[in-house]
Amino acid sequence: MTLPKNLSSIAEFYKTDKYEHGYTKVYEKYFESLRDKKLQILEIGIADGKSLLTWSDYFKNSTIIGIDIHKIDLEEKNLNRTNIKVHQGSQSDKNFIREIIGKYRHFDIIIDDGSHLRKDVIKSFNLLFPYLNNEGLYVVEDMQTSYNHFFGGNPFDLKYSNSHMNFFKHLTDRLNYQEIANPFYISNKYDAKITNVSFYHNLVFVRKGINDKLSREVLNHSYEDMKFNEKSSRTGNSFKYYLKYKIFYKIYTFFFMILNLLKRILLLRF
Ligand SMILES: C[S@@+](CC[C@H](N)C(=O)[O-])C[C@H]1O[C@@H](n2cnc3c(N)ncnc32)[C@H](O)[C@@H]1O
Repeated sequence: MTLPKNLSSIAEFYKTDKYEHGYTKVYEKYFESLRDKKLQILEIGIADGKSLLTWSDYFKNSTIIGIDIHKIDLEEKNLNRTNIKVHQGSQSDKNFIREIIGKYRHFDIIIDDGSHLRKDVIKSFNLLFPYLNNEGLYVVEDMQTSYNHFFGGNPFDLKYSNSHMNFFKHLTDRLNYQEIANPFYISNKYDAKITNVSFYHNLVFVRKGINDKLSREVLNHSYEDMKFNEKSSRTGNSFKYYLKYKIFYKIYTFFFMILNLLKRILLLRF
């Protein structure tokens, strides 16, 4: 009996640069257990169709949907397969993406290998992530573009620029949103919806899932309220702990917040 080929050897056979870049080794770790499942996989960016052919061979029972801004000649690229679907349009065109969502409804894996421009990467993520199934994966390739101003990245302000790398770095705070002890915390649309963000060389993986476990440290983003409830119910001395946590520490927290706000204004960090 011949064993099915692994992802890297299929990718090498079709000569997709996902093999050359070392991406297939990382993908294999995530995809091996999903290989025989019936999934809907969307890839942004088709070019010669080499990756679509790779996914089509690897995920035999899945539907592989490719989108590209340019017209793709299915005959010429040998993409006439029953499990490959191809559509022409831009990843940042809201109406086109809505059409794709209207047709396929939900996806299990989304791979962005399109323009790699900051605005497109972020816009596509915002448009498509709501339609990723729970436990689904959103992958962005070629994140090196985030360090290149020709792609809307920023090589001169790695920490605070609005690059696509920083967009994904900030998603890690969404993993821990319940723990943020800021009573004025403004909720984010990705709170409770992300269970993992992993970075590899030029690759980022975001796992969707329900992440609504309550914090053990704060109550509705307030450490003071949690402490007040805890101490007053344990000792029965509400007045003392009211003064301590609801008055003194609330004032302290408020000043700490104002200080940080001023710092951000002075340093123009918004
Ligand atoms: C790196 S290639 C894709 C390679 C392919 N995924 C593979 O691994 O074999 C990038 C593709 O993205 C397409 N592209 C560029 N801008 C796009 C956009 N705004 N929307 C959709 N596709 C885009 C290009 O036409 C090009 O075919």
